[in-house]
Amino acid sequence: MKKLFFLSSMTLAAALTANADVIALADMDLSYITCLSGEAVHKNQSTKGTDLAIRGKVYGGVGTHAPSKCIVRLNGASEFHTLLGITDSAESPSQKANHGIAEYTVTLHKNHETEVRATGTISRDDAAPVEVNLTNLAGYEYLELDFATGTQPWADHCAWADARFTYSGTAPATCSGLYTEPAAPIVQLPTTGPNGEQIVPLSSLDISLIQNGWRTPQANKSIEQNTLTINGQRYASGVGIHAPAKAVVKLNGSATHFHCEIGIDDEAGERASANFVVKVRNTSGAERSIASAELHRMNSAVVVDCDIQAGDKYLIIEVGDLNDTNEADHVDLANAYFHFVFQNSNPPELVSPDVLSSTLNCATVLFSQPGVRFMHRLHSNNPDATFSVNNLPAGLTYNERRHLVEGIIKQEGQYTYNVLTSIPGEDPVSTPISLTVSSHLQQPTPFMGWISWNTIEGEISDDVVRKACDGMISSGLFDAGYTVICMDDLWHAPSRAADGKPQANATRFPNGIKPLADYVHSRGMKLGIYSDAAGRTCAGAYGSYGSETIDANTYAEWGIDILKYDYCFAPTDRASTITRYTTMGNALKASGRDIIFYGCEWGQNSPWEWAAQAGCSTWRVTLDVRDCWEARSPGVGVIQSLAQVKDLWPYSGVNRFNDADMLCVGINGKGKSSSDLCVGTPGMTKTEYRTQFALWCMWGSPLGLSFDVRNPISATDLAIMTNREMIDINQDKMGQAAEWIGVDANGCNLLVKDLENGDVAVAVVNMSNNTQSYVIDFNQIAALDPTATYAVRDVQRCEDMNNAIGSISIPSIAKHETKVYRLSKGTTSIVETLAAKSLDNVITEVNDSNVTVKFPGTDGASKRVILSDTLGRVFGSATTTDTQVTFPTPSSDLIVVNVVCAGRSISKVIRR
Ligand code: GLA
Repeated sequence: MKKLFFLSSMTLAAALTANADVIALADMDLSYITCLSGEAVHKNQSTKGTDLAIRGKVYGGVGTHAPSKCIVRLNGASEFHTLLGITDSAESPSQKANHGIAEYTVTLHKNHETEVRATGTISRDDAAPVEVNLTNLAGYEYLELDFATGTQPWADHCAWADARFTYSGTAPATCSGLYTEPAAPIVQLPTTGPNGEQIVPLSSLDISLIQNGWRTPQANKSIEQNTLTINGQRYASGVGIHAPAKAVVKLNGSATHFHCEIGIDDEAGERASANFVVKVRNTSGAERSIASAELHRMNSAVVVDCDIQAGDKYLIIEVGDLNDTNEADHVDLANAYFHFVFQNSNPPELVSPDVLSSTLNCATVLFSQPGVRFMHRLHSNNPDATFSVNNLPAGLTYNERRHLVEGIIKQEGQYTYNVLTSIPGEDPVSTPISLTVSSHLQQPTPFMGWISWNTIEGEISDDVVRKACDGMISSGLFDAGYTVICMDDLWHAPSRAADGKPQANATRFPNGIKPLADYVHSRGMKLGIYSDAAGRTCAGAYGSYGSETIDANTYAEWGIDILKYDYCFAPTDRASTITRYTTMGNALKASGRDIIFYGCEWGQNSPWEWAAQAGCSTWRVTLDVRDCWEARSPGVGVIQSLAQVKDLWPYSGVNRFNDADMLCVGINGKGKSSSDLCVGTPGMTKTEYRTQFALWCMWGSPLGLSFDVRNPISATDLAIMTNREMIDINQDKMGQAAEWIGVDANGCNLLVKDLENGDVAVAVVNMSNNTQSYVIDFNQIAALDPTATYAVRDVQRCEDMNNAIGSISIPSIAKHETKVYRLSKGTTSIVETLAAKSLDNVITEVNDSNVTVKFPGTDGASKRVILSDTLGRVFGSATTTDTQVTFPTPSSDLIVVNVVCAGRSISKVIRR
């Protein structure tokens, strides 16, 4: 039987002459072919299910998405032919940076030896596909076809077009891996130690706590779920991981011995290599190296066998990628086990490697404003840690029960105090805390505004910025607090001016940036600009690396108020990242203009630990947000935002905000790159947009809207963006991020945020796909007193609820809905309830000397009033039971008045 599909007549003739059979790759079992998670492998179609077309020509063959691998057992086949290309379904790199580029490799294998027969790069911009013709395949056992992503796995829609084998006898066939046969005898775990000790296999511990370079660690399997096999030797027990990886085992005083055989699994590709170190850290923090070695494919396992000594606290296994890429570094911790002798102590346990990183895992460089309540929440990833605090400045106290420093400092100044962190059995560690109290902070509350990227991309222009400004004012968004207009990437001319200064695209910004900034300022708003800490920006314009000073000075001349500083094309190590941000931070400081420095390295090097010192007052903590509930990796839908931001709360504070990226409300699936990488179609339900908005408010993330300002905006979308009481939680002057308390079995997440006036915001996020009920138990929330009465305000609906003691029962939370409540302690009196209702009647009067805020109908009720500028810089604050309060008139043209009473919060922007 001849099997002939999608072959040219030439091939058919050749096959007939040679009296051989031909089989198309597309006719083999494609389920063995792996591709980027979430993408598909298709027969005779692109990965997207469209025609398998390259440059307009339609082929038969296999469509896939890099990274992708196909292994064919040759069974004596004699020839192979294919065309390699990016299908027309993808965007090209000339249209979108990093899209539609992949690297291909065609490898032959025999006797565990490999021969790369073709390798190179294909791009959607190529004029024609790359042709690969292999003849004389006799003696080779496997053919391996690989597509690797270029810099990013974006739109790498690859094709093995017209791929076919010539053979006689048994047809070649796809398979799951190389050299799975013959099987050597399998190494079994010992049943006891030499002195009768119990055996605790590493694979029986919580292996999800291992930090792992790719996919998830596997118990008793390789990372690709095959039998653990190192150089032909198979193992019954162990853990399959991928470099770079780190496992930390807390020994708990009763593990006496460790054994492990470490090597590269045979399933790994040719380029696999790694190195490892096994060491032990004792209770005083001293480390002892046990073993270290380089690992290469088809080398025998390295045996690690050591006794554990008294005082050894952690066993640490670090696996590196040997300074190449981490590609194919499938490492097995085979036959890995501990001897355990019960001594009233727990068996060894895997713990998060974070326990080693620092004893104090929270902000150590903090900011506050004079007269405003301050809070510093101490946190260690080590659950055994306890704290004490000394040298506190006047006005601050340590709340031992809640592990927080709190209070009000009245005087501006630079303060220092010490936190002593103790872990049982280890020497305490003292950490100095720096606290700057100033009325001139860059960003006292998270900035609120509009950012061009998600819907405008390369169409950013003078006209769009003016429209954004005018639109913010006419829609009421300006009055709601959105006062920053930020131009993202691609505002640039093709190159710098002859004198090295940055310059804007002359067609889209015919008058340059300065007159535009003047216009934005004349409307009471602030203008942001974008650059990158490398030679190029993410979308390919010129970057600022090496030109930091001239750029910062020019931005200052132009009247720029905020710089978003991206990190594409820059070195990825932490030291370089810190240096590059610090250089620009210093240049901005030296420019003489107050420019907010907004870091954007996507959380890759934990900017929450160092970016404040580099001069940033906010920093991105995720890759790019997508306009969807769930995104495919590496995109970030709401699901991924929650996963990535939820534990970063200890690092947020006044003038140091974790940025969860642009808000998608108003985009409704019509964005540009924000509409990529969505599971399902882009866009979210209104409930989901409300949840995204609520999370950003709870976290104190900047509120950067990104809808298309050139089109009308619906009343519903506007209502989400302007929910005053929600915004007040975001703009709270104490700058806390909500602590993530946990998630219940139904997928309901609980978040809690302390607010400046002593209120507490509590959010319940239903991440499940069903309606749920939920009981907020005040015993779970350290910020609440379970015996006290609280006035409860539903912040999503801006409605009062019944007072609560001890708990709030929520009968129904819709799929993906978030309930947010603002709780005020002890306000059950009729006076306060009426006063809170009367806040709608607040009257503000301003003249050259005084601002008077009057609250008719609130006599006797306690109110907190704060006056600030639109960036949150506080001019005055007061707590009063009177019906009016007076402040000296500040110099700012726009004044934000915020009044909070019994859980209700009212803000007004007034002009002098
Ligand atoms: C990166 C950033 C985005 C946007 C684009 C512009 O992807 O993370 O927010 O600025 O670059 O090219």
